[in-house]
Amino acid sequence: MALLEDSKCFKCHSVDKKKDGPAYKEVAAKYKGKPEAEAKLTKHVTQPSKVKIDGVEEDHGAVKIRSEARIKNLVQWILSR
Ligand code: HEC
Repeated sequence: MALLEDSKCFKCHSVDKKKDGPAYKEVAAKYKGKPEAEAKLTKHVTQPSKVKIDGVEEDHGAVKIRSEARIKNLVQWILSR
């Protein structure tokens, strides 16, 4: 949670309300029961990418840490919303 704050993820996401990005609850619902969920989200939160917000391309943030254990923890946190 603090990690997400650190990485400015809450600028575009919240747990249960849609902002510029989907709410983490929606993300969790979308990936519920999917075996590839952890791998996909791990990639998504560690590699910078581009996302479209209202037709404008913005950089999607990536977490600044490289500790596998902490990233796993973060991904599981999102998936358990
Ligand atoms: C500039 C605004 C912005 C920031 C900052 C941002 N996101 Fe996102 N995020 C988005 C948007 C928009 C999407 C939807 C992209 C899509 O569906 O293609 C998204 C999608 C996601 C998804 C779902 C991916 C999927 O495959 O469904 C996750 C998980 C996520 N973001 C996590 C994070 C984390 C963790 C951070 C901080 C490191 C972060 N985001 C920072 C805008 C942002």
